[in-house]
Amino acid sequence: MQVGFVGLGNMGSAMANLVAENGFDVIGWEINREVVEQITREHRNERFLPGVELHPKLRATQDLGEVVASSDVLFVAIPSVFIRKTLEPVADKLARTTIVVNLAKGIDAATMMTAFQTLGLLFPQNPHVMLSGPSIANEFSRGMPTVVVLAGRDKVTLMAVARLLDNDHFRTRFSDDAIGVELGGVLKNIYAIGLGIFDGKGIRSVNFRSSYLTIALEEMTKIGVALGARPQTFAYLAGMGDLLATSLSEHSHNRRMGVLLAKGYDLGRIRQEMGVLPEGYNTLKTALTIAEKYHVSASLAKCLWDVIHGRYEAEKFVYLFIRDFIQGEGEA
Ligand SMILES: NC(=O)c1ccc[n+]([C@@H]2O[C@H](COP(=O)([O-])OP(=O)(O)OC[C@H]3O[C@@H](n4cnc5c(N)ncnc54)[C@H](O)[C@@H]3O)[C@@H](O)[C@H]2O)c1
Repeated sequence: MQVGFVGLGNMGSAMANLVAENGFDVIGWEINREVVEQITREHRNERFLPGVELHPKLRATQDLGEVVASSDVLFVAIPSVFIRKTLEPVADKLARTTIVVNLAKGIDAATMMTAFQTLGLLFPQNPHVMLSGPSIANEFSRGMPTVVVLAGRDKVTLMAVARLLDNDHFRTRFSDDAIGVELGGVLKNIYAIGLGIFDGKGIRSVNFRSSYLTIALEEMTKIGVALGARPQTFAYLAGMGDLLATSLSEHSHNRRMGVLLAKGYDLGRIRQEMGVLPEGYNTLKTALTIAEKYHVSASLAKCLWDVIHGRYEAEKFVYLFIRDFIQGEGEA
């Protein structure tokens, strides 16, 4: 059994290391040469996963064709915006039996497709699994207890992926609502940016944060349901669980974007500082279009868009939020 990874960034190397520690042979492709060299020489990835010793069963390469052609299970761990461009040229090398597992949580603004949908289009014959839920790579790579959701149509496929991942600190649960599980992970990034803005402004009221996250979950659920997800999925690990993890974690890229916005950084400077704009930003743009198309009210997302683009200050958003956004119980 050979397990392949596309991308050995923060998530890719953490997940690849988990599979290697569980006793499987893993080979990962990474675009950055110095990362491949350091993993090969020192079993470390200081750029993306500093301070974690990687298992020798995890090998790294810059030969994407080799990884795709030799994998029985292929995990995709690059931001959604790069998926099509990276995998299209080598798509014909993938065996039809290879299980494709998506770890990316984003929507390609150009095609309006989620990462899981893009992979379905690139590899129409293959079995697909969506992995999501509260899974901060910097935590589970250090043995911190983590439970994620594997979603897909076929239970046998889900069990095959679970065998690679489950151990005494990392466990999987199954769902057949792949679109719901994916959209929970995708949409929560929008609202994590918002929480980062409040943190950056020093607005740390637990009362406010709890109300904000409650309304964020309600809005995520409405958008998700319009796109075919089941509402219950959002009340569980891939919805509420991931929203809480990403909004509250110091390690979250999306929350960090919010913190930088609060410090007065514009989008260009954030891109420079972070290398790439976090996925929540593109998702926000796309979610607003989707909400309009399906006549779903997404007032919170709209307000965040206005704050991000400097139309008003975060403090004013807090005032508007507590004045206008919360209905009486059962009135929504
Ligand atoms: N980090 C986490 O805790 C976490 C948890 C769950 C899901 N995810 C998802 O995993 C995906 C990757 O996130 P990450 O945190 O590992 O990001 P990262 O910034 O740590 O790594 C980015 C990865 O993208 C690759 N990349 C950069 N430019 C590229 C290009 N032009 N073409 C192809 N690949 C390129 C990099 O080589 C690297 O492997 C995202 O979709 C994210 O939502 C991350």
